[in-house]
Amino acid sequence: MTYRQLEATSGRQQGSRRRSSTPFTNEDVRPLTKLPYYHAMPTHPSPASNEPRRGSLACVGLGMTLGSHLTPLARSHIQQADVVFAGLSDGVVELWLQRMHPDVRSLQPYYREGKSRMKTYREWVELMMVEVRAGNRVCGVFYGHPGIFAWSPHKVIETARAEGFQAHMEPGISAEDCLYADLGIDPGRYGCQHFEASQLLFYERRIDNAGYLVLWQVGLVGDRSLGRFSTGPKYRELLVELLSRDYPLDHEVIIYRGATLPIEKPRIRRTTLRELPHVTVTSEETVVLPPSQTLRLNLAMRERLEALDKESALA
Ligand SMILES: C[S@@+](CC[C@H](N)C(=O)[O-])C[C@H]1O[C@@H](n2cnc3c(N)ncnc32)[C@H](O)[C@@H]1O
Repeated sequence: MTYRQLEATSGRQQGSRRRSSTPFTNEDVRPLTKLPYYHAMPTHPSPASNEPRRGSLACVGLGMTLGSHLTPLARSHIQQADVVFAGLSDGVVELWLQRMHPDVRSLQPYYREGKSRMKTYREWVELMMVEVRAGNRVCGVFYGHPGIFAWSPHKVIETARAEGFQAHMEPGISAEDCLYADLGIDPGRYGCQHFEASQLLFYERRIDNAGYLVLWQVGLVGDRSLGRFSTGPKYRELLVELLSRDYPLDHEVIIYRGATLPIEKPRIRRTTLRELPHVTVTSEETVVLPPSQTLRLNLAMRERLEALDKESALA
């Protein structure tokens, strides 16, 4: 089915609100395989006609790559919303979203160099809640997965629920998912730790160098103001100093950027830990360190398991 045909089957008309109850016609009695995907959505109980309409909220992920990662359910939430807020990484992606809904409000202008991102994120929550409280169906659309390294979607859902509104998070394909596919990494093989890079500097954390280490937001590492768009080599030097406790300086470091447009290919750069301060790392890149240690046997646990096996064989 083409994009246009999908739009047609959604039954949505520009600027119109979906009616809460529609009389059945013969056309509605279709084989299950032909059901438009939005029928899979949970339906809200329709309010009695004199009750004010309750607002609701859905935070959905658009995935990483324009066009190919959007799930039918996420699309359905977008199309059925009264108002759509967009926290996307790319202006082109935002234009694409505008083709799906006439009222898409960008959250991007609230970012400003020097302004704390926490202030921006709180503003996003408030913008969405104002519309929910006004009785609108609100959809917050975020790139990747809306719940991965993303504060506002979790917060606005928590706030909406605390105020008695229905709120839902719809997962999306994140940078993490793309990374596993593009780098050929299976997190189940040796285990995989994920950290926001600054958190490694701000707090005492334990790194397991027998598994993969994935570092997010390395381009901003060490930014205590939360107001900078990037930090520099000196900040990455501190990160390298910390990582060198667990990894040799010639250990491989992968700098990964997944494709956001269908015409792009993933960008995969390989360097060493020593070189990390001297290469550019953008805000759209994630850093991966493969294991530097082989897995060590836990002899004590193996002995206890053996004893258990013997016990259960005797029973
Ligand atoms: C605020 S987080 C948002 C993550 C997003 N919610 C997701 O599900 O992937 C921003 C971080 O995601 C990672 N990221 C964003 N875009 C990326 C891309 N195209 N490729 C790889 N990593 C990316 C980087 O580590 C970046 O610093």
